[in-house]
Amino acid sequence: MSSSPDGHNGKLYIETVGCQMNVLDSELVVAALRKDGYELTDDPKAADTLLFNTCSVREHAEHKIYSSLGRLKYAKRTAPQKVIGVLGCMAQKDQDLIFERAPHVDIVVGTGQLAEIPRLIKETRSAEARQQQKAVSLGRRDGSVLEISSSFQSYDPLRDPEMRPTPFQAFVRIMIGCDKFCTYCVVPATRGPEQSRPPSHILSEVKVLADQGVKEICMLGQTVNSYKHTEDGRTHRLSDLMYAINEVPGIERIRFVTSYPKDMTDDLLHAVRDLPKAVKYLHAPLQHGCNDQLKLMKRGYTVEDYREMMHRIWETIPGCSVSSDFIVGFCGESEESHQLSIASIREFRFKNSFIFKYSERGGTKAASLMKDDIPEDVKKRRNNEMLAVQNEISEEDNAEFIGRRVSVLVEGQSKTAERKAARGEDASAPGDPLATQLMGRSECDRIVVFDGNPRLAGSTCEVEVHDCTGTTLIGSIVTKEVQHGSSGILPILS
Ligand code: SAH
Ligand code: SF4
Ligand code: F3S
Repeated sequence: MSSSPDGHNGKLYIETVGCQMNVLDSELVVAALRKDGYELTDDPKAADTLLFNTCSVREHAEHKIYSSLGRLKYAKRTAPQKVIGVLGCMAQKDQDLIFERAPHVDIVVGTGQLAEIPRLIKETRSAEARQQQKAVSLGRRDGSVLEISSSFQSYDPLRDPEMRPTPFQAFVRIMIGCDKFCTYCVVPATRGPEQSRPPSHILSEVKVLADQGVKEICMLGQTVNSYKHTEDGRTHRLSDLMYAINEVPGIERIRFVTSYPKDMTDDLLHAVRDLPKAVKYLHAPLQHGCNDQLKLMKRGYTVEDYREMMHRIWETIPGCSVSSDFIVGFCGESEESHQLSIASIREFRFKNSFIFKYSERGGTKAASLMKDDIPEDVKKRRNNEMLAVQNEISEEDNAEFIGRRVSVLVEGQSKTAERKAARGEDASAPGDPLATQLMGRSECDRIVVFDGNPRLAGSTCEVEVHDCTGTTLIGSIVTKEVQHGSSGILPILS
């Protein structure tokens, strides 16, 4: 279907996998296309344009996308005017291979070329004969650093207020790419060279978001604490951005992911400690608890270095929580190495850990130089053992919160309440038809659920914790109940 004179451009369906960077990219692509007259649908059958924003970090993520694409083969045969696009990391990594494996795909757009999407869809739709189109950036060996860097464009157009998943939280990209080249990782290839955005651009984006009602800013970067940009003769680091954002009226919380352990400098820890708006939480993946494995991974630090960082965090920011990622079953991982990883969870008491089974990725150092020699069932068992220990630690540490009050930025209905409502069941809280189960996060990033009025979304509440699981604190809102007009009893924060 072609664009009509009233600017209507048909229905758009988008599927997103991968990290927060992809979530942000999809949000921005949808915003740009809505401006062009597209209307979003969650029904792929009803869509005229179908986009898949992809991830290549593990094989499983790619399989998911290829099977979603496979399901569209018949739809494209019966409705050839549908435009199918593959975006993101897999588009940058696989390029023409996507057309080979899924010939019904019309466009392939890498992470550094997202601004091209509206034009490419338009051209595909208006072409006389079917024409597959591709917009990708250079490979990491296909030119000078400058040429490669400039082929990866950070895509940060200003956003529509109604486009965000929640109106009061927003991701802000502060850098793109990665230059760390961990041996297992495909990201330096899919996202290109590390490039920090100018602080003035970041700050104006934050101010616009604050004017739109955003209260929480989450700064994004693959190694967010490696941020460095020289502007007006001065070098700005992540801590400088934190101080600047802390001054923006309306912003109440500032967070950032993901930190690279080696770049956890004291100026950043002091900013997290001293700034009232800074969330006391760091995501600083250890990846493994054995030095031999860290060396093979080329992470650039030892367990001793990591321990030193953890002690600095604990001493500088009391109550700060830290989470980690781990890879199990990496090349040559012995049972002893695995036990060291388990021991590291016990030692560092992570708030939570994301644990992944090693997945060999073409084009990485590990794929070309090392053997993926740990059998799948061993990877699975080790993964489960790590999860069990992490869960035990999380539960123990969450239990410390029972009886304490935490300050919660309310995000909205809890997953349980959402599921109930989606099934058409009564999602109201027991004994209070105006309330439902809400969820939010504490100042140290713990998930908190409690009953309350959905209108509290976006506000900060005091919640007294009376129970917990490994992932969640369960509590009650601390309220003064006052009569509020005709709408009955509305909780007012004490
Ligand atoms: N930039 C972030 C991580 C981005 S990828 C950082 O360095 O911490 C997110 C996580 O995926 C990584 O932390 C790692 O634990 C995992 N990961 C990356 N490549 C992987 C692979 N080939 N197999 C399994 N897990 C992988
Ligand atoms: Fe991948 Fe390592 Fe870069 Fe993280 S720091 S994105 S794991 S190469
Ligand atoms: Fe995946 Fe790309 Fe993010 S590979 S984890 S979507 S940077």
